[in-house]
Amino acid sequence: MLVRRLFRIIMQLGVGLIFSLAVNADNGETAAGRVPLPTLPTAKMDFSTEQKCVAPTDIMRRMHGTFLKHKRNETMHQGIRTPAYSLVECISCHVTPKEDGSYTKIQEDPQHFCRSCHAYAAVQPDCFQCHASTPEKEAVSTDSVPANVEEMSMSMSK
Ligand code: HEC
Ligand code: HEC
Ligand code: HEC
Repeated sequence: MLVRRLFRIIMQLGVGLIFSLAVNADNGETAAGRVPLPTLPTAKMDFSTEQKCVAPTDIMRRMHGTFLKHKRNETMHQGIRTPAYSLVECISCHVTPKEDGSYTKIQEDPQHFCRSCHAYAAVQPDCFQCHASTPEKEAVSTDSVPANVEEMSMSMSK
């Protein structure tokens, strides 16, 4: 229960703030004197006809770090391997090739989808010393029901 309450408090307070700063409006407008906002590479496809990402985009902006860490714990400690919030899937869909069709690793590319925002927001998740930052498989669009956010918060309270 405590974890669940904390989860809600975090959702209500902090995280959104950083994001609204980092991402500003969708049009990427920059107020005078601020550090230029990152221009994000467009994903290869939408997750489904109803939804662009694996959860609604505004939720993904605020919560993807939490989802990924939760998913990692599930996989490592409980052996659960489902595509929902899989890091491999994020990379397949979001990391796009250069004009010659090749991919650049996150360490070599400041514009990598998983890097530009983090530099701006001054967070440095250290995932890609182990995980591939370039696609291992084809991106897939699906109309299956996306992982439910409420369910996610329930399972976190256990
Ligand atoms: C020291 C190496 C290492 C580091 C650093 C690391 N991981 Fe992992 N991660 C693994 C291994 C090994 C697995 C298990 C792969 C499997 O069995 O599917 C795994 C599995 C996962 C999974 C579940 C499988 C998938 O593709 O969804 C997620 C999610 C994940 N890690 C996220 C992260 C995130 C986010 C970070 C950074 C904050 C991170 N990991 C850092 C080694 C690492
Ligand atoms: C099948 C494709 C697909 C998959 C898989 C996917 N996304 Fe997305 N994601 C999108 C699309 C489409 C958008 C909307 C922005 C765009 O068009 O690039 C988006 C938006 C986002 C945004 C907000 C970007 C912004 O414009 O502010 C973040 C952050 C994000 N995704 C992270 C992730 C993470 C982390 C994963 C893995 C857990 C993931 N995505 C999996 C397609 C995908
Ligand atoms: C729209 C900007 C943006 C994009 C794109 C983005 N991130 Fe983030 N990410 C952030 C911000 C801001 C934070 C810090 C706030 C938080 O923890 O949610 C963060 C936090 C994280 C964290 C948690 C760090 C920690 O130690 O708690 C992980 C893991 C992460 N991102 C992974 C990814 C991966 C993987 C991708 C690419 C698939 C990605 N992010 C793309 C902005 C972004």
